[in-house]
Amino acid sequence: MASGQLSRAEALACAGCRHACHVMLYCDTRTQLFGRIPIRHVVLMQMRFDGLLGFPGGLVNPSEETLEAGLSRELSEELGVALPISVEDHVDSCHAPSSSSSSRQLITHFYVKKMEEEQIREVEKAAASTATDHGQEVLGMVRVPLYAMQGGDGGLASFLSHSFIGNARSQLIDSLLSLNLVSSAELQKALANSLK
Ligand code: APR
Ligand code: MG
Ligand code: MG
Repeated sequence: MASGQLSRAEALACAGCRHACHVMLYCDTRTQLFGRIPIRHVVLMQMRFDGLLGFPGGLVNPSEETLEAGLSRELSEELGVALPISVEDHVDSCHAPSSSSSSRQLITHFYVKKMEEEQIREVEKAAASTATDHGQEVLGMVRVPLYAMQGGDGGLASFLSHSFIGNARSQLIDSLLSLNLVSSAELQKALANSLK
């Protein structure tokens, strides 16, 4: 386990900690951009109320609900669909850097869930129509471009140069690598180009 990370059980044993759960929903796709650039995978993130990119999810109270039930509840509000999340979808838990807005330590729990392309489209439709948080806490869902274009500066490199909430950027990068959604060489190029 990497430094700063906690097991799910250790995280839940922290008395007085606040907990937030977020999920990366993704699918495979055969679609091609402009009929020639393979999109390969749809990875969903959201533009938040604070202007930062992040994953869907939010604050959970483990004394009233399991982490996964709390995450499902947040997804109903933010995406407008009831998506079951299970313990098997859990990837890691870690202490968030302390913020001035609360003295209580925040632990962030991250989940990943693979779906069918049609289910992802339904999530996008509901998030933009029936979701109660649409236009308020969530300004819109966005797909992460995983390809490179314009000599390497465009696509993933441009996306990674935006601003992200908490450790959402590293959660995205780590997941792209561990799920092999982009190769390590492609990711290194995108990271180098995102700094230009
Ligand atoms: N990594 C680390 N921290 C994160 C991440 C992330 N990837 N994503 C969100 N956070 C932090 C946020 O900064 C926030 O403090 O987790 C906390 C809860 O996440 P939200 O998704 O913002 O919570 P939500 O329950 O959906 O929103 C409720 O929380 O952000 C506040 O006041 C804001 O009204 C909002 C309330
Ligand atoms: Mg929320
Ligand atoms: Mg949220």
